[in-house]
Amino acid sequence: MCGIFGCLGADAAAGVLNGLRKLEYRGYDSAGLAAIFPEHEGPIETERTTGYVADLVSKANGRFDGAEISIGHTRWATHGGVTDSNAHPHSSNDGKITIVHNGIIENAQELLERVENLGYDVQSETDSELIVHLLDHELNTQPVGRTPLEAFKSTISLLKGSWAVAVIMTGMDGILIARKGAPLVLGRGSGSGTCSYQGNCSHLCVSSDVQPFYGSCSEVAYLDDDDIFYISKNGIEGLEDSPIPEFEVLEGVYEEGDSGIFPHMMLKEIHDQPIALTNVLGGRISADGTRAELGGFKLSPKQMRGLDRINLVACGTAYYAALVGANYIRQLTELTVEAFRASEFPASDVCGPNTLTIAISQSGETKDTLDALQEARKNGSEISSFCNVIGSTIARMTGNGAYLYAGAEFAVASTKAFTNMTAALLLLALTISEIPDKQRKKIVREIRSLPAMVSRQLIEEDGSMESAIEILDGAKSAIFIGRGISAPLVLEGALKMMEVAYLPCLAYPGGELKHGPIALIEEGTPVIAVAPHDSTLPLMESSIRECRTRGAKIILITDHEGPITQFADVIIQTQATGTIVSPMVNVVPLQLLAYHLADQKGLNVDRPRNLAKSVTVV
Ligand code: M6R
Repeated sequence: MCGIFGCLGADAAAGVLNGLRKLEYRGYDSAGLAAIFPEHEGPIETERTTGYVADLVSKANGRFDGAEISIGHTRWATHGGVTDSNAHPHSSNDGKITIVHNGIIENAQELLERVENLGYDVQSETDSELIVHLLDHELNTQPVGRTPLEAFKSTISLLKGSWAVAVIMTGMDGILIARKGAPLVLGRGSGSGTCSYQGNCSHLCVSSDVQPFYGSCSEVAYLDDDDIFYISKNGIEGLEDSPIPEFEVLEGVYEEGDSGIFPHMMLKEIHDQPIALTNVLGGRISADGTRAELGGFKLSPKQMRGLDRINLVACGTAYYAALVGANYIRQLTELTVEAFRASEFPASDVCGPNTLTIAISQSGETKDTLDALQEARKNGSEISSFCNVIGSTIARMTGNGAYLYAGAEFAVASTKAFTNMTAALLLLALTISEIPDKQRKKIVREIRSLPAMVSRQLIEEDGSMESAIEILDGAKSAIFIGRGISAPLVLEGALKMMEVAYLPCLAYPGGELKHGPIALIEEGTPVIAVAPHDSTLPLMESSIRECRTRGAKIILITDHEGPITQFADVIIQTQATGTIVSPMVNVVPLQLLAYHLADQKGLNVDRPRNLAKSVTVV
C-alpha cells in the first residue's frame, strides 16, 4: 500500500506535505519526507515519524521551507514494524540518495544478502531500503558515461515484485521515478510561478494517484508498468526507446474530507447515502419510471444475454455487494453468474472467450481485484468494471463499465460505496433482463423510492440503537444472521463491526447456524438478525428462536411487526420495502450499529488500526 508524492517547484516540500495529506487513505502508520534546497550539497535533509502526516508537519516544523525538490511517503507497514526507522524515506549510507517506495519487493531476502555482502549498513527492516543501496552501488560502479537514469534502470531490473519508486539525489535537479504493479501519476500545474517546468507550468509532481493534484495541477499523465523516467525542469526524460507519457486534462473534482456537522466522516458518509443513491440512479431510470438501464458497457444487453457466464470479482465490502448483485442477476436473468473474492479468483476455470468478468471496487486501485481482472483477460474473458473513483487504475484498465457516483469516500469503512455498488448491480441485472413489463415496473418503482426510504431509515429517534449498543458494549463477540438476500448483507454488517469497533463477529446464513456455530452461543451473546418481511421470514423465526433458547440476546432488524418480534430483546424497525431493494435499506442499521459501538468505545472510527482505505498490496 502506501502513498508516495514528489514535487519539483517553488516550495516543493509544502507541496509534498499537502499531497501526502490527501494520500493518507493509502496508509497512515508513519510518514516522512526528504528535500533538496537550491545549491545544496552533502546529505539530503529528511524527516520521518510514526503517526500521521500532521505529526510529520509538526516534526518538520518549517525546516523544509524553500526546498525546490522533495519526495514524501505515507506508510502502511508490510516489511518491518511501525517505527521511525522503518518509515520512509530511506537513504544511502552517505545520505546523498534517498527514496520512497510503494509496493512489495518479493526477492528482498536475496537482495538483503547481496547488499550486506557489498558492505552496506542496512538500517531498517524494510524491503524498500535495499533499493537505495543497490542504486548507490550501481552509481558507484557504473562505466563512465552512463547516466543516473541508466543506473536506476539496472537497479530496477534486479527487483521482483511491485513498486512505485521516487528517488532524489544530491547534485541532481529532478526525481527518478519507476513503476510496476503500483500506481504512479504525473501532474503539472499551469500556475504563474517563476519556475519553468514543461508546458510553462509552475510545478511538476508525481503521486500515487490523482487526488492530490486537484487544486494544484491541471494536467495528468498516467505511467504504465515498467516505465522509468527522470523528471526535471526540462520535462520528462526516458530511456532510448521508451515513449514519454502524454499529459491530458485532469477530469473530475476533489471533494475535501470535511465531515461538516458530523463528528466523523463515517457517520457523514452513512448519511450521504440518499444523495449517493440519487446520483447513481440519475440518468439511468426513464422519465416514466418504467425502465432502468445502465449504459457504458462494451457488450450490449443482447450480447450479455448470450454469455456463458458472468464473474464478479471484488474484495471486502465490494465482494459482499457483488454477492447481492449476483443474486439479482440470477433472479432477473437466465445467466450463470458467480461472485468471487478477487484474491481467490479461479480465472483459468471460469474465464473463456464467451465470458465477462466485472470488477467492483470503490477505489479502483485494489491490487487483488486488479490482478483478478488481469488473469481474466489473460484467460480470454471480456472485462469491465464498477468503480467509484473516476480515472482509477481499474476503470482505465477496463475502459468500459459504470461509475458509482457515490462521491469521495474518506472513512476507511466503506458505506455509501456499498449501497451504490448494490444499486448499480441491480440496474445491470435489469438492463440484461427480459422480465415482463409488470415485474420490471414494480422493481423500478422500488428503486426510485430508495433515496427516500434510506433517508427515513437514517432517522434514529426511537432509542432502539442505544438499547442495541448496550447489549453489544462489553460483549466478547457477536453473531450476525440472515437468509436469502440478507445472507450476504450480514457478512457486510459483521465486517463493518469488526473493522471499526474491533468486536470479533461471525456472520452466517440463519439455517447454517445449527450446523456448528450455534455452539458459541452462551448467556448474553448478541445475535444480530436481519429479517425483512420476505419468504425467508418463517425460517428466520426458527433461527432466532434457536438462538434465544440458548441465552442469546437478539437484536432484530426487521420491517415486520408480527410474531417474530416477540423473540427480540431489541427491535430496530426498518422501512417496509420490496425484497429486492431491502439490502440497501437494511444495511443502514448495520452501519450505524458498528459506528455507534466504535464511537462509544472511543475508537478512531475513520482510521481503524492496521487498515488503509485503498489496499494496493496482495
Ligand atoms: O476500493 P475497494 O472497493 O476495491 O476496496 C475493497 C476492500 O478493501 C474494502 O471494501 C474494505 O473491505 C473496506 N475497508 C470495508 O469497509
